[in-house]
Amino acid sequence: MEYSIEITKLAEHSVPDTKNIPFGKVPTAHMFIAEYNNGGWHNARIVPFADLVLSPLALCLHYGQTVFEGMKAFVMHDGRINIFRMDKHYDRFCKSLDRMCMPNVPKGLFTEAMHQLVSVDADWVPDEDEASLYIRPFMIASEGRIGVKIADEYLFMIVCSPAYQYYTAPLKVKVETEYSRAADGGTGAAKCGGNYGGAFFPTQLARNHGYDQVLWTDARNHDHIEESGTMNAMFYIDDTLLTPSLSGTILDGVTRSSLLAIARNAGMKVEERTITLDELKAAFTAGKRVEAFGAGTAAVVAPIESIAIGTDTYKCYTESDAVMYKLKHMLTDVRRGNVADSFNWNYIL
Ligand SMILES: Cc1ncc(COP(=O)(O)O)c(C=O)c1O
Repeated sequence: MEYSIEITKLAEHSVPDTKNIPFGKVPTAHMFIAEYNNGGWHNARIVPFADLVLSPLALCLHYGQTVFEGMKAFVMHDGRINIFRMDKHYDRFCKSLDRMCMPNVPKGLFTEAMHQLVSVDADWVPDEDEASLYIRPFMIASEGRIGVKIADEYLFMIVCSPAYQYYTAPLKVKVETEYSRAADGGTGAAKCGGNYGGAFFPTQLARNHGYDQVLWTDARNHDHIEESGTMNAMFYIDDTLLTPSLSGTILDGVTRSSLLAIARNAGMKVEERTITLDELKAAFTAGKRVEAFGAGTAAVVAPIESIAIGTDTYKCYTESDAVMYKLKHMLTDVRRGNVADSFNWNYIL
């Protein structure tokens, strides 16, 4: 093994019945942690889950040098555990780290740490439809020092939590045309903490008006769709799967990429391009069947039942024969090993 990871396991612990626990509330028994200083990674270890000791001067607490990933492991139909698209998540982690001036984690260390941690907590991976182990790798600037600077010390950690279905009902969303999530040249394509903190206020305003989420538009003219909350926005209109192209202001979602590949592979018409509000309004007004959904690791496919654009609210198609559910099942089949992994996406323990 290229990277040595010391493993300290709890002498014993029982896995609780996690079914009724809200998403992300209960960590598994162990976590991974490694420290970066003097230009290298040290002290890589798996230990029982515990609080961190961090200086109140830690730069991450003040200047937002934090990056994270969100990925999942599944129990396959034959009982083996599959960590889904580890490579793509690793590549996106590195891109986010570059954008935030943070050191990369060597791929071997990332892979080995995740392999070992999920193996140690394998009993925590729920073996049910719609259930998985949510895996959260993240990095924070841990150097203690007041002063706006790129940190010289970091922690790279992985924690996990059992996850069940994320959203239960189709979403009511509002197209946001006042506030922005990301602008050209900003950090929209990075999975850094600040993007999420900045989104809370407009999302809360939308919730106060009875919506579940906002659909972000471009920061310049607010005339085309970007993404939705913590999901990529996708549509199925006129026998075509549509999604905004990766413009640099939205996240290169792994679920988005997987659904596009599956759809193309199935011979569906797929378009990655600018989707204007005018075009959406025209489709609704013409009485077309419009499917709209969010695509993301946590929810996989989150159907949208209505979209408010300005003062008008449009109804989307969410009946059980909608194409978005078929796409979701096709993705589930790959992850659970029900069909051959022709895309080479599965990392099986
Ligand atoms: C802003 C944002 N967009 C899109 C996504 C969907 O990405 P993925 O499918 O990789 O989870 C996420 C979730 O990670 C997100 O936070």
